Amino acid sequence: MHIIAPSILSANFAKLGEEVVNVIASGADWIHFDVMDNHYVPNLTIGPLVCEAIRPLTQAPIDVHLMVKPVDRIIPDFAKAGADIITFHPEASEHVDRSLSLIRESGCKAGLVFNPATPLAWMDHVMDRLDLVLLMSVNPGFGGQKFIGETLVKLREARRRIDAYKDRTGREIRLEIDGGVKTDNIAEIARAGADAFVAGSAVYGAGRDSDPNRYDSIIAALRAELARAG
Ligand code: DX5
Ligand code: ZN
Repeated sequence: MHIIAPSILSANFAKLGEEVVNVIASGADWIHFDVMDNHYVPNLTIGPLVCEAIRPLTQAPIDVHLMVKPVDRIIPDFAKAGADIITFHPEASEHVDRSLSLIRESGCKAGLVFNPATPLAWMDHVMDRLDLVLLMSVNPGFGGQKFIGETLVKLREARRRIDAYKDRTGREIRLEIDGGVKTDNIAEIARAGADAFVAGSAVYGAGRDSDPNRYDSIIAALRAELARAG
C-alpha cells in the first residue's frame, strides 16, 4: 500500500491545526513533521510542543523527521508528544544503533534518513533496528526544491536491500522518499521502489482546491499517478 505523507513545512502555520485536519480529511495517510534546528540544517522549524498540540486533532500517524544534531536528547520528548515514527540522519548521531534503540524503547517506529550523498552502507548493520528508510531527494532544510534524479538509482538499490532482508527475515521495512515529489514524477519514483511519499509544496502549495480548506484533488491526482505505476 502506498502512503502519502504531506509535509506540514509547506502548510499555513497560522492555522496549522486546520491544515492537518483538512489534509487528512482529503485522503492523506500520515502527517510528515519536519524538525530543523539551524545547526544540522540551515533552517529552524517546530518542536515537541507543536507535535503535542496537533496530536489530539488526528488519528493519522505523525512521521517526525529530525534534522537536528544531536538527536538523542529530543527523542523521548517527541515520543511523549505523540510521535508515531521518528527518523534521524546518521551523521547527526554519535551512536546510530543507540539512537535507533532509544526510539523503539520510547514506543515509536524508527528510521534512518539518507541525504543525497549519504551512502546506503549506514543501514548495513542495523537492519533489525529499522522500521523505515527515508531517502532524501533534495538536500534537507527547505521545501520547494527540485527532485535530484540520481535518487532513483539509489531508491532501486535501497529497494533491493530491503527486499533481500524481507526474504531472509519476513520483516517489512518501509521505503520513504522526501523532496520534490510532484504529480509528474511520483509514478516513476514508485516504480523505482518507494512505498511512502512525502509531498510538501505539491500538496500544501499548489494543491488547494476551489474549497480553500480541502486538498482532495491534489491527493487524488497523486493517487491516480501511483495507480498508474502499478
Ligand atoms: C526538506 C524536508 C521535506 C520538505 C519537502 O528538508 O525534509 O520534508 O518539506 O518539501 P517539498 O515536497 O516541497 O520538496
Ligand atoms: Zn522531511
